[in-house]
Amino acid sequence: MTRILITSAIPYINGIKHLGNLVGSQLPADLFARYHRARGAEVMFICATDEHGTPAELAAAKAGKPVAEFCAEMHEIQSKIAEGFGLSFDYFGRSSSPQNHKLTQHFAGRLNAAGLIEEVSEKQVYSNADGRFLPDRYIEGTCPNCGYEKARGDQCENCTKQLDPTDLIDPRSAISGSTDLEVRETKHLYLRQSALKDQLDAWIDSKTDWPVLTTSIAKKWLHDGDGLQDRGITRDLDWGVPVKDGDKDWPGMEGKVFYVWFDAPIEYIAATKEWADAKGGDWERWWRTDKGAEDVRYIQFMGKDNVPFHTLSFPATIIGSGEPWKLVDYIKSFNYLNYDGGQFSTSQGRGVFQDQALDILPADYWRWWLLSHAPESSDSEFTWEAFQTDVNKDLADVLGNFVSRITKFCRSKFGETVPEAGPQGREETQLIATLERRIRAYEGYMDAMEVRKSAAELRAIWVAGNEYLQSAAPWSMFKEDEARAATQVNLALNLIRLYAVLSAPFIPTASAKMLSAMNTLDTSWPDDVPAALTALPAGHEFTVPDVLFAKISDEDRESWQERFSGTRD
Ligand code: MF3
Ligand code: ZN
Repeated sequence: MTRILITSAIPYINGIKHLGNLVGSQLPADLFARYHRARGAEVMFICATDEHGTPAELAAAKAGKPVAEFCAEMHEIQSKIAEGFGLSFDYFGRSSSPQNHKLTQHFAGRLNAAGLIEEVSEKQVYSNADGRFLPDRYIEGTCPNCGYEKARGDQCENCTKQLDPTDLIDPRSAISGSTDLEVRETKHLYLRQSALKDQLDAWIDSKTDWPVLTTSIAKKWLHDGDGLQDRGITRDLDWGVPVKDGDKDWPGMEGKVFYVWFDAPIEYIAATKEWADAKGGDWERWWRTDKGAEDVRYIQFMGKDNVPFHTLSFPATIIGSGEPWKLVDYIKSFNYLNYDGGQFSTSQGRGVFQDQALDILPADYWRWWLLSHAPESSDSEFTWEAFQTDVNKDLADVLGNFVSRITKFCRSKFGETVPEAGPQGREETQLIATLERRIRAYEGYMDAMEVRKSAAELRAIWVAGNEYLQSAAPWSMFKEDEARAATQVNLALNLIRLYAVLSAPFIPTASAKMLSAMNTLDTSWPDDVPAALTALPAGHEFTVPDVLFAKISDEDRESWQERFSGTRD
């Protein structure tokens, strides 16, 4: 059996995420996890909250809570929201788990033994007003690369460049806003990524099937300027994984923690161990190539700002350890989703946040729109007009209408049981040929992880059924030839089951409703389309489902537009 390991970039714990975060990693990861399960693969789908580092500390301080308590609460909130969107994680872990502490310290120990860690006495920004060092997000300023004025000490959100706090122009403290800053010496550990440059380069060159978005970013950081830089992997912070050399203390590193970007990707592995510890499974057969993971296909999902860490830093950790850990096989990365003419922004509270989205409409509306507009080849934009138009057309007019029309018609003429099918005519043969072709194309796009093209193909499959129904018109046929109308209705009812199976990765809730209305547990994939269209035999009972998708009215759209035009506090 094929085994597929899927990880989604783990969201920061600092607050509720917006829709851009959802479509950039978790949602497409869920789409493919569901698809591969439906096709019979054994899937391990892992996500977690990213709980360390300055984002967590700053957010906890703002909420006036101890950071551990803040993280525990926010993890529960994010977990509920993920459930609300139907994200089918096998496990949703926490990077602050004991498992991750141990594994992170283990990797550091291995890297040290391999001579890949260097102790560096370095210059860090110290804030006199705050009485502390200002690593990463504790400092803001202008990006030296692109001139963006709100760049953070660790990375510029605008151009994705990884930064050091001392690189920023006109720096200021993110805690107090103070510009009374000075540079002081402090000792830190550096991961000698530059020593692994050739291995990383060769590894990326071997990934000829990766999207250009992924490889171009990796290549840029490998070759631009002075090439791959060694990275500081420790910080002067209280909250995080204490710096240790395996299970031994690290002299001179007392009171310091590992950098969040060092421990966060290790949490992919640790979360699988959390799963095993909680549920009693074997995590090593997913992660250790000496324990069965050589057969696993490992796919990662993330936004483009995460690519350097997943193509360079994390692989450096894995390769540098010298142990047989599983490396990623395919990285699917995304551009940004913009909001009504600007950026979605967590820090500025701009856009629609995940909890708000679920408050106003069921998950499937969001899943469908976001996935069918996934920012794959370029940034894409959410507007309320486009959302209203597309959802009303695709979900209500095409899919919803098909289901309601045929089930109601059948109930009125034949009762709530599938009528007998006679011989098929030319229209049926044509429909089946179209479905055959389109379903194979849909599988091809899904296998290639082409999100938008998969959505377009699925929509075309729904449209084909609608067109068939429109031209076959069993409601007119019934008057002339009842047996022929029964054949058409039989086929159309079977199409509902087929649509439910094919659409489940995109719209799992509606799909479950369709299956339950069709009174079937048969979710087998249509490898054989004609056979799949006979799954519900004559005499099989069903019920007419409630409206699957209500249309979004102009009043609703206007009121949401108004409500989400400002910023959230
Ligand atoms: N928390 C990061 C973000 O939201 C993603 C971390 S992904 C992992 O951008 F590599 F660290 F796991
Ligand atoms: Zn920049």
